[in-house]
Amino acid sequence: MKNEIIKALKSSDGYISGEMLSKQLGVSRTAVWKAVNALKQDGYVIDSASHNGYKLVYAPELIEKEDILKNLTPSAAGCEIITLLNTDSTNNYLKKLASEGAGHGTTVIAEQQSAGKGRLSRMWYSERGTGIYMSVLLKPMAAPHEISCITPVIGLAVCNAIRKETGTDAKIKWPNDVVIGSKKVAGILTEMSAQSDMIDYIIVGIGINVNNEVFADEIKYKATSLLLETGENFSRAALAAAVLCEINKSLTDGIGFSKVDLEEYKKLCISLDKEVSVMLRGKMVTGRAIGVNSGGELVVRLPDGELMNISCGEVGVSGVY
Ligand code: BTN
Repeated sequence: MKNEIIKALKSSDGYISGEMLSKQLGVSRTAVWKAVNALKQDGYVIDSASHNGYKLVYAPELIEKEDILKNLTPSAAGCEIITLLNTDSTNNYLKKLASEGAGHGTTVIAEQQSAGKGRLSRMWYSERGTGIYMSVLLKPMAAPHEISCITPVIGLAVCNAIRKETGTDAKIKWPNDVVIGSKKVAGILTEMSAQSDMIDYIIVGIGINVNNEVFADEIKYKATSLLLETGENFSRAALAAAVLCEINKSLTDGIGFSKVDLEEYKKLCISLDKEVSVMLRGKMVTGRAIGVNSGGELVVRLPDGELMNISCGEVGVSGVY
């Protein structure tokens, strides 16, 4: 209904009466009024003059499905794209679709999230119209232990897409934070539903700070955006398409690191050759990160010379947020 009202307002030169809209759409005038108010909440500026009806004054620049598709070669990730103005979390929305049988590659993109989720139960700031909030459904024929690499593999795809589209020197903080300089520009939340021997589905949720001008006080020391780094505004649709292309490329031979990709990942990973610290079972462990293995784990040399493979958790890197 909101879409139909926007279409009608866009095709009208001046004001269009509530009565006319209700006739055109076959709904009551109250329903029109409610939808117009909801559109105002979504960022549209609609002038409502009591005798003339409604006039569209400003429409926010949205991520349009067509703009993504024109930049995307037909492939799995992004084969079916759902764009939303608002949702609590694109991961949650896609989880529901997955439980209803949505197919491999289904992608949900929202303009805004009211409860965007980050890793480790944090929240993800999801301001309207500035970032990319996107989730991709993957349904690999694999057991849970076979997909340990998925998190860094997607991190590499997102980092490469950002580098190619923006020319920035984006890097990866293990396992999959994308950083520019010492601040984070993108994050990935991977959620999975699985039996002990078979994955039902994986949801890869990607958040990228694209055209944000400011961040809330509590995150501004550690968050940045592509706009803040370059002074340029970027097309979110083109960048979303680039991310989907890179994901498709990295998944062509299954869900894992090819030798080339692993080498590329290591080159871009700022955690390597640095002192790192991680909380493991309530104990802070520190050491030097010396590699990433083919399973995507961070290899850390402990002070006593022993090697430890770290597969999850928040790994602090000296000098980075
Ligand atoms: C992180 O903490 O680094 C992960 C952030 C992931 C944010 C994205 S935005 C799209 C998707 N939906 C969510 O609720 N979270 C992910």
